[in-house]
Amino acid sequence: MTVSPSLPTPTLTTPRLQLRPFADSDADDLFALHSDAHVLRYWDSPPWHEPERAQRFLAGCRTLADNGTGARLAVDRAADGAFLGWCGLVEWDPTFRSASLGYCFGERSWGHGHATEAARALLGWAFDTLDLNRVQAEADTRNVASARVLEKLGFVREGTLREDCVVDGVVSDSWVYGLLRREWRP
Ligand SMILES: CC(C)(COP(=O)(O)OP(=O)(O)OC[C@H]1O[C@@H](n2cnc3c(N)ncnc32)[C@H](O)[C@@H]1OP(=O)(O)O)[C@@H](O)C(=O)NCCC(=O)NCCS
Repeated sequence: MTVSPSLPTPTLTTPRLQLRPFADSDADDLFALHSDAHVLRYWDSPPWHEPERAQRFLAGCRTLADNGTGARLAVDRAADGAFLGWCGLVEWDPTFRSASLGYCFGERSWGHGHATEAARALLGWAFDTLDLNRVQAEADTRNVASARVLEKLGFVREGTLREDCVVDGVVSDSWVYGLLRREWRP
């Protein structure tokens, strides 16, 4: 039997942000973020209604690290430690040398380049540490801000996944984006 190595979630700093492993004490901030219907309007699942969902998310972060399949990092504002959101890489496949990027930030932090700054730090760590060749990301075709974040990071739009998601009965298409190691500009 092959046992995958664990993957310690890193702590990363950027000029304005600190990215760190989640702690149990993040549950309330996480629930506030993921229960906000406006923030989640292009997400691939409905907003949370039960606070226990935050505990499941935190358990999922621990499982990712324990199984060595990814890393989700809380993102704080460096100046005062305020929780802004999170970004993560999941589905790390050491054979394909690929992983999937995701992120979610509270509305008050939008429009300041935070998502791009955080994802850039995470990608830098991942390309250095995980010997990645490809990172994939998907975004609802209505989510212009997320598409812009991916394009600023150098991702290439590779196609459209038609009727990819059905959330509360609403059917939506997704763009699929890819970033290859040889295209990555730290
Ligand atoms: C998508 C999201 C991560 C963007 O975060 P952010 O910190 O505002 O992102 P940035 O500031 O780094 O970049 C956003 C870019 O989108 C642009 N933008 C935002 N809304 C836009 C709109 N309606 N039309 C065109 N451009 C738009 C901004 O101008 C900016 O581009 P610029 O730097 O060229 O001016 C954030 O809105 C979010 O977390 N949303 C909720 C969760 C989500 O949708 N996650 C992604 C799932 S795929």
